Amino acid sequence: MPTSVAHQSVAQLGGPVSVLVRQKKDHVTLNALLEELDSATGAAQDEVLVRIYRLVFPHAFAEEAVLWPVMRRVLADGEELTLEVEREHQEVNQLVERLDGMGHDAPDREAVLGRLVAVLREDVRDEEDELFPRLQDRVSENQLRALGVAWEVLRRTAPTRAHPIVARRPPGNVLAALPLSVIDRLRDLADFAASRGQAGMKAPLTAVSRGLGRASRRVESLPIMRRGEDESTRYGESASGIPLGAITVAAVVSVTLWSLTRRRA
Ligand SMILES: [Fe+2]
Ligand SMILES: [Fe+2]
Repeated sequence: MPTSVAHQSVAQLGGPVSVLVRQKKDHVTLNALLEELDSATGAAQDEVLVRIYRLVFPHAFAEEAVLWPVMRRVLADGEELTLEVEREHQEVNQLVERLDGMGHDAPDREAVLGRLVAVLREDVRDEEDELFPRLQDRVSENQLRALGVAWEVLRRTAPTRAHPIVARRPPGNVLAALPLSVIDRLRDLADFAASRGQAGMKAPLTAVSRGLGRASRRVESLPIMRRGEDESTRYGESASGIPLGAITVAAVVSVTLWSLTRRRA
């Protein structure tokens, strides 16, 4: 039985650049955030959830685009193994979408939150105990380091929010990465500015963020962004039409408002 990466040293995992060391580091951070979430309520709970989303969505997006295709190439049962974690990722995306539309007093909030924590923990265990030791068996340490660099580059530029409609595997998710990442990061800036800026700016910045959210939904609903997906990770029906005008206007307004709030601060 292969040794879980949880019980291996940095040297055994291929050194600090190795994808296994980078993965483990993020998983440790996630574990600490989940413990923090356990005792958080109200606005503090929202704040911890945002930190969890900013960690797990780029992390998982980069796994789906860079790591799982390699697993499918080098392992006879790679298809089955990776499909299981893609389903977990899909469930996380859908649970976060539900939570985003829920108030703190919603009757099923606790159940949705509990399920989210359980799936995130399950995903980490599947990766550390099964997928990564199997990958480690089939590729060299040099390849683990090369994968570490590729995964890290994508992780730093990947979308930062839930995107349940987009395919969980290439080519759809790779095509979706750039436009969704730009929109997500503009939304992050608008939300940050709304929370830190002058009181009068809060409403317009929140409206900009919502507009970007709608634009993002339309982009991820384009049929091309769903190419390559497995039927078991499919979400609803796609919307039609590309609101490029709305995306551009929302982006320009967002950046302008952000620079104005910074100048006045
Ligand atoms: Fe992971
Ligand atoms: Fe994962």
